[in-house]
Amino acid sequence: DKGNYRHYMAKEIHEQPEVVGRTLAHYLDLAEGVVRLPFDLNCDVKKLSRVTISACGTAYYAGLVARYWLERFARLSVEIDIASEFRYRDPPLPEDGLMIVVSQSGETADTLAALRYAKEHGQHILSIVNVETSTIARESDTVAKTLAGPEIGVASTKAFTCQLAVFACLALALGRARGVLTKERERELVTELIAAPGQMAEALNREAAIEPVARDVARASSVLYLGRGPCFPLAMEGALKLKELSYIHAEGYAAGELKHGPIALIDYAMPVIVLAPPDASLEKTVSNLQEVAARGGHLILIGSPRAREAAAAELAGFVEIPETVAGPFASLVYAVPAQLLAYHVATFMGKDVDQPRNLAKSVTVE
Ligand code: M6R
Repeated sequence: DKGNYRHYMAKEIHEQPEVVGRTLAHYLDLAEGVVRLPFDLNCDVKKLSRVTISACGTAYYAGLVARYWLERFARLSVEIDIASEFRYRDPPLPEDGLMIVVSQSGETADTLAALRYAKEHGQHILSIVNVETSTIARESDTVAKTLAGPEIGVASTKAFTCQLAVFACLALALGRARGVLTKERERELVTELIAAPGQMAEALNREAAIEPVARDVARASSVLYLGRGPCFPLAMEGALKLKELSYIHAEGYAAGELKHGPIALIDYAMPVIVLAPPDASLEKTVSNLQEVAARGGHLILIGSPRAREAAAAELAGFVEIPETVAGPFASLVYAVPAQLLAYHVATFMGKDVDQPRNLAKSVTVE
């Protein structure tokens, strides 16, 4: 049922404040303002030195965002790879290690193969899945469910932000269990996390501002997305959404890599979409943006008013995200304009957003 929406994808994008809130409530003790995982990790988390993550597509990008959180909050190093590579690399895995697989459907063939490989090599398997009855869930030692509800649109949206919500809680829980986070710091971070669904709702309210930007992007034949830190994987996710839905070629790059190649592409025609939340890397991201501006690039900024001011450049488009959307979990909120942009570009072009050509919702073959 699409409710009042034209497409499942629109409905699923708009459901995010609710389902992310529900997912957080499942992993947090809201009254105490701390994390409370509804399962036991069944491994000695103090002894862990690293965790391994594997997944495909959008679920893989969720893992890439999570790497920043696991490193920062739990001081765990993270080995992450796409499942189709991981399964054939014959990677050495630590004794009694923790393997996290991420999958909306729980049926993705390569992710399942990565899980089985890790299991054969003595890893404890934790899966983050949306379909609890799936093969991946069944074959895992521990299942952390996302409470996104059924996702019908082929492009993953609400499952992605729910995966991020689970990862954020997991990183904080591991940080506490490993003695990295004090109770006080944990409370502060949980407070920030709890604010995310409301901020996502605010971001959804900016939808009208995204439509003119989408009409502009729809004319392009290639688009570059730039971000730093947790917004780097989000740049790749934004590019994937645009490719899948509009069939426009798009790439996500770490803003700092611009000089190492992609800057050669800059011209007046190729939109460069910069994701710039007000975090510690803002200044650096803005200087990358200015490098694009200096070469006559076609700039679109998704960022806070402070980012807009600091940019001091001519912009072809600006999607304003409130200044208060800051800190380590801003990527949860910045996912929303990236999804909306891809959605509106594709609907403006008359594409079938719920069922893009050549794609299947669940990839059960290699
Ligand atoms: O069901 P899964 O999460 O395992 O699926 C993984 C990818 O196939 C999936 O995320 C794909 O990249 C989506 N079409 C992205 O929108």
